[in-house]
This record gives sequence, structure tokens and C-alpha cells, in this order.
Amino acid sequence: NNVSVFKGKPKKADSIPDGSGGFLTLSEKKLFLGQKLTVMQGDIVKMVADAIVHPTNSTYHLGGEVGQAILKAGGKEFQQEIDSLLKNQGSIATAEAAICPGHKFSAKFVIHVNSPTWGENNSQQNLDKAVKNVLKLADDKQLKSLAIPSISSGNAGFPKQTAAQIILASIRDYFSNAKTTSLKQIYFVLFDAESVNVYTTELARLDG
Ligand code: APR
Repeated sequence: NNVSVFKGKPKKADSIPDGSGGFLTLSEKKLFLGQKLTVMQGDIVKMVADAIVHPTNSTYHLGGEVGQAILKAGGKEFQQEIDSLLKNQGSIATAEAAICPGHKFSAKFVIHVNSPTWGENNSQQNLDKAVKNVLKLADDKQLKSLAIPSISSGNAGFPKQTAAQIILASIRDYFSNAKTTSLKQIYFVLFDAESVNVYTTELARLDG
């Protein structure tokens, strides 16, 4: 079962200091190497974390829902970071990730990931790969905290529940297999009411 690791009642929002300024915490779990995984609702651009994740296409286009929010906050300066990333590193294949500095928002870095589109070949396996590539890149850069949105469930068309289940399972698997990691805190940031509902429904079903 993809989400069995998340058994347990959601904790009260005010019971967890999360450094993210009033976000609603839905649940929290310690993972294999002692990292904390916190599922929350809010705007990822406002998260206080070493990096936030931007689901995008092969050329880092800020056209998805999260991308638009990042562009609104980061403006021209952030767009310039993306232009130089493309120039220096080139484009990325589906499920691959790349990193650049952040601008005008709390996160020091943005990890871009080419999110698979629903209905394409191997889209579910690619979403799993995408999450693992993001975590690997964060580890390569020695990051301690990371905020991940529900990749592929906006513009890219995945059903909200499918995306949330795959992403949570990927995070769990990554840390089960990792020998060491710099990551101490992962925020899985849900945004829309549907994602929050399917997530809490799933959690309640597991509880009962
Ligand atoms: N904070 C957190 N999550 C958010 C926010 C926000 N401010 N705004 C929207 N979301 C949620 C959406 O509701 C959705 O569940 O993030 C999830 C991912 O949505 P997108 O950002 O659209 O990502 P994705 O579905 O992977 O589509 C990206 O857009 O750039 C294009 O074609 C490119 O394939 C790429 C696609």
C-alpha cells in the first residue's frame, strides 16, 4: 500500500513548529534516517526551506501553476536565473531535475523537475523517478530542508490522488534506500482543496 507509512491521526496544526508561518499541517511522520516528513497546505512560494520544487517542462518554463506563482514572486531576476540555467546546463529530459538560486522569496534554491504528463507512456513510473531525482539533487547539494508540491497534478493533468500517493511513496522509498542524506525536513505542500480532501480521506481510511 502506497501510503501505509502515513498511518496515524493528522496532528493539530498548532502542534508542530514548521518555520513556514501559519501553514496548515495535515500530518507528520519520521522517516527511516530520522528525517521529518510534514504534509501541509499552503503556497509553496511562501515556504521557508532551503529549496522549493518547480514542476516544469524541458526548458524550465514557468508556465505551470507553481511556475506562475514563482514567477509572480521572483520576477525578472528569477527569469534571468532560468535563462542562464538553460544556457549553461541545457534542457532536461522527463523526470530529470536541475537547480538554480532563488530570488525574492525565502527559499535559497529552486529545484526544477520536468514533470511527466498524465497519459504519456510510463507517466506514473516517471513521476516516481522525478521525485527521486529531486531528492538526489537536494542531497548532492547538501540541502537540509525541501518543499515539494504535488508534482504533475496541475497543468500536467494527473488525478490529484494518484499524484499524491505516488509522491509520498517515492519519498518514503528514497529514504528507505538512502545510506546517508543531508535532508532533515521534507515538506509536501498541497495547495488546492481537492488535494487536501483526497489526502485526508486517504488518511482517515487508513485509520479506520
Ligand atoms: N503552491 C503549492 N502548490 C500549488 C500552488 C502553490 N502556489 N499553485 C498550484 N499548486 C498545485 C496545483 O494545484 C497542482 O496540484 O501544484 C500542483 C502542480 O501543478 P503545476 O505547477 O501545474 O505542475 P504540473 O502539473 O507538474 O505541470 C507543469 O506546466 O510548465 C508547464 O508544461 C509544463 O509540464 C509542465 C507543467
